[in-house]
Amino acid sequence: MKTVLITGANRSIGFEAARQLLQNGYYVYLGSRDLAKGQQAVDQLKAEGFAQVEPIEIDVADGASIAAARAALGQKTPVLDVLINNAGILGGMEQPATSTSLSTIKEVFDTNVFGVIAVTQAFIDLLRQSPAPRIVNVTSGLGSLTLHNDPSWKYYAVKGAAYQPSKAALNAYTIMLAYELRDTPFKVNAVDPGYTATDFNHHSGPGSVQDAAACLVKAALLGPDGPTSQFFSDDNAPETGISPW
Ligand SMILES: NC(=O)c1ccc[n+]([C@@H]2O[C@H](COP(=O)([O-])OP(=O)(O)OC[C@H]3O[C@@H](n4cnc5c(N)ncnc54)[C@H](OP(=O)(O)O)[C@@H]3O)[C@@H](O)[C@H]2O)c1
Repeated sequence: MKTVLITGANRSIGFEAARQLLQNGYYVYLGSRDLAKGQQAVDQLKAEGFAQVEPIEIDVADGASIAAARAALGQKTPVLDVLINNAGILGGMEQPATSTSLSTIKEVFDTNVFGVIAVTQAFIDLLRQSPAPRIVNVTSGLGSLTLHNDPSWKYYAVKGAAYQPSKAALNAYTIMLAYELRDTPFKVNAVDPGYTATDFNHHSGPGSVQDAAACLVKAALLGPDGPTSQFFSDDNAPETGISPW
């Protein structure tokens, strides 16, 4: 049975991705920085009839928590097939480039960038044991530098000095990681779930968590001929599904 670890899966898009991967027969390690919330989410999925799911306590902004999660997972399975780096924070709505505090920017980068790197490095050995490992880095359409310089883009005015640069940096890391793993069975991609109604944006987004999670799941289920080192975004590129970086 294939295994997946999803960070920040106790609610919203990550939680729905857990549900959809359970529907696809995966064993889900449901990451949550608060174990009680993770257990609640697992209880809900079990009540829906899914048995192959358990919580893993993991705070991606805390190195000791990541190390403990890696040790715990290593006791449970010798192989991890899929890692979905989903946990992310916005860092507040207004982020002017001239005044956003460095502490806010660092806090956002700690979770959205350094957290992803630390989790990926911690679990890469378990992923290498899979015959077809997949890494899904949950980015945002707002991480596209090309589109941020295009005045005709629908999100052109949605600028910010912490969140947007954090997702651009995550995209850059995704390319570097995919390059290093290019001659292996790994598929490493950045996936924008689209502007989605969740707690993240006070439910202002037009998209559903079902559609958002389906974008993540599609990248998790890529076959051997599937792409690697891509920036998937139906929101930025409805026709091709591939966003410019
Ligand atoms: N919603 C959108 O419109 C949208 C658009 C583009 C991209 N995204 C991206 O999609 C991902 C999920 O977003 P969402 O809308 O589902 O957000 P959300 O509703 O705010 O949920 C975020 C999840 O991440 C967890 N999390 C935050 N910091 C964490 C940390 N340090 N360690 C572990 N878990 C942590 C939260 O845990 P707690 O419950 O403990 O807070 C929660 O489970 C994010 O990476 C976001 O940037 C979202």
